[in-house]
Amino acid sequence: MKIIMLGAPGAGKGTQAKMIAEQYQIPHISTGDIFRANIKNGTELGKEAKTYMDQGALVPDELTVRILLDRVAQDDCKNGYVLDGFPRTIPQAEVLDAELSKLNEKIDYAINVEVPDENIIRRMGGRRACVNCGATYHMVHVPPKTEGICDKCQNELILRDDDKEETVKNRLDVYHKQTQPLIDFYSAKGVLKSVDGTIDMMDVFKSITDILG
Ligand code: AP5
Ligand code: MG
Repeated sequence: MKIIMLGAPGAGKGTQAKMIAEQYQIPHISTGDIFRANIKNGTELGKEAKTYMDQGALVPDELTVRILLDRVAQDDCKNGYVLDGFPRTIPQAEVLDAELSKLNEKIDYAINVEVPDENIIRRMGGRRACVNCGATYHMVHVPPKTEGICDKCQNELILRDDDKEETVKNRLDVYHKQTQPLIDFYSAKGVLKSVDGTIDMMDVFKSITDILG
């Protein structure tokens, strides 16, 4: 099963994608997590990506597409995957489509997690993320057992550099201009399913599993 998560920054794509990956035993692939791991390790790719991410801008398509296609060509992706944060522009979606067509494959579901902008701004300031394993928490909704420490790997939790209020606003602008058109793109292909992302995260997950079966 090949699934794409669509939705604004902070809509809960990562939260839901992790649960989907576990339930359906497919890898969770987040381009944002790949970039953050590279930034942490000080790679050339990380240095380049950081200049865009810190502004809330998108990393150029050419670079992002190359990384994503490498990742989905790996062995663990044979039975499908859940993509979180990719595609984010129409050109990215077109490349993915073309590559899948060559293999006689296609995206089965594009799950659009709907959350209005006002909710997003409130959510982001409370988010804490583990740079080591990518686990996500929320100071109010999903607190870790020990403040500031990841439950899963005991590493330090951080407020992402791009979760400052000004940057979140830029990310929302970029989302509306460049990513929202993907809703029509996948709707036209008949694979778009929208869910309400403002409700409790386990209820959001229930709506998604009702769709995926
Ligand atoms: P990326 O890492 O993909 O960030 P994003 O899309 O901005 O999304 P987020 O990770 O911020 O939010 P999310 O939807 O995953 O929400 P989460 O589950 O954490 O990208 C970062 C940057 O990398 C981009 O700005 C860009 O520069 C670059 N990039 C990445 N991919 C790219 C691409 N394809 N092309 C070009 N550039 C790219 O939830 C958010 C918070 O809310 C958490 O604290 C969570 O606990 C809480 N929460 C979740 N669900 C609920 C709920 N139902 N109720 C209450 N709280 C909830
Ligand atoms: Mg995410």
